Amino acid sequence: MNRPICIIGTGYVGMACMIGLAELGWTVHGYDISTDRIERLRHGQPPYREQGLQEALRHHVAHGRMHFFDSVAEAVRDTEIAIVAVGTPSHEDGSADVRALECVLAELSTIRFASWPTIVVRSTVPPGTCDRLAPLVERWGDLVYAPEFLREGSAVHDFLKPDRIIVGSRRPLIAVPYVRLFEALQKPVVFTSLCNAELVKGCSNAFLAMKITYANEVANLCDALGTHYDDVLRGMGYDPRIGSDFLRPGIGFGGPCFEKDVKSMRHTAIQLETSRELFSATLRVNERQPMRVIEALCAEIGSIEGAAIGVWGLAFKAGTDDIRHSLAVRIIEELAERGAVMTVYDPAVYVAPLPPGSRLVRSAVEATDADALVVLTDWPEFYGIDPFSFAHMLRRRVVIDGCNVLDARRIASAGLTYRGIGRPGTPSAAQLSYASAL
Ligand code: UDX
Repeated sequence: MNRPICIIGTGYVGMACMIGLAELGWTVHGYDISTDRIERLRHGQPPYREQGLQEALRHHVAHGRMHFFDSVAEAVRDTEIAIVAVGTPSHEDGSADVRALECVLAELSTIRFASWPTIVVRSTVPPGTCDRLAPLVERWGDLVYAPEFLREGSAVHDFLKPDRIIVGSRRPLIAVPYVRLFEALQKPVVFTSLCNAELVKGCSNAFLAMKITYANEVANLCDALGTHYDDVLRGMGYDPRIGSDFLRPGIGFGGPCFEKDVKSMRHTAIQLETSRELFSATLRVNERQPMRVIEALCAEIGSIEGAAIGVWGLAFKAGTDDIRHSLAVRIIEELAERGAVMTVYDPAVYVAPLPPGSRLVRSAVEATDADALVVLTDWPEFYGIDPFSFAHMLRRRVVIDGCNVLDARRIASAGLTYRGIGRPGTPSAAQLSYASAL
């Protein structure tokens, strides 16, 4: 019989890994430092919202394929493979904080495994980290680095449908037990060094962040030229060397990964005294991009001081309730600083710390009882809301669409002025009829 696989850390990465492996038929043991979380998981309650997650968790717990432990020693008992997926947040200077990972490895070194174990690091770490940590492990086990490429909102799906499997180790043979877990997926495997595997992860995320940033620069250029980005980026995306994925402009990239990973790559380059212009420029442009929404709002309504602003969207992207590093939160804070009060609606976020005076409401239309509306998360359902259902509520008749999810024409036909990112202002129907009367 196959031995169980242990997963240490039950955040997005760890949970997706547990469920994905259980779906592939493996028995999995989960451990987390939070005993509360373990208790909830035992009762089939996932630590975050994701479509299908709760059902999958309950199914695998009920069928005895998934077990949760509040002690590492018990969780790894009888296992030969332990996958470590603990958080590696950013320090102030952009370097990654790998202390949680070091603590787990130190704890594992005190445990007597049934046989020589393979320890797989899955947390994102800067290049060179695993080579530095390898001596800690090599006295009692093998160390492998296997990065993940999961998106929040589709993490289990991404786990089960990877484009490639990257494994780093000091010798290829060491990585074989880990790669065997994915035999059923029949995906290309890249065997490489620990450092190269770390670089694949960091450089991939930095590239995607840079690609989004590029799309934002193109959109900003379109704004300045008074033209629409849609055809420009669509036209570019058909070139397979460019591709249309991640070429969607907006308020910038948010979330717990991209900014942290680009900062970590830049920090590594600084440490090594090598060039980091693209990392720095990506971060700089992304810092500025949310201000585009505020500038567009100022251009339409004048002073922000004392304005009531309706906000659609708080999560860092559609399909998640995660507001960590959400640029929507940053924009709301900036608007509050300038004296505005916000009424916020997000289909998935029910609790959030908002600036004094601002509040969360339970319906999109309720949030439009305001001077102007800004859209800060790309929820597709916003597209489906009939502008005539709220046009009369918007006192200054202005909609700033930071995510380009609304239909500019329909908004204008309801008598509202529409501005997107890279989609210059659309005159409202009222303005149009005034113009035609002239
Ligand atoms: C990302 C990576 O995609 C994943 O491979 C990695 O493992 C973790 O980080 P995630 O942060 O979940 O995943 O979200 P993703 O869908 O990649 O979006 C990140 C941010 O970029 C969001 O704020 C999103 O709105 C923004 N984005 C994405 C754009 O602004 N434009 C795009 O074209 C795509």
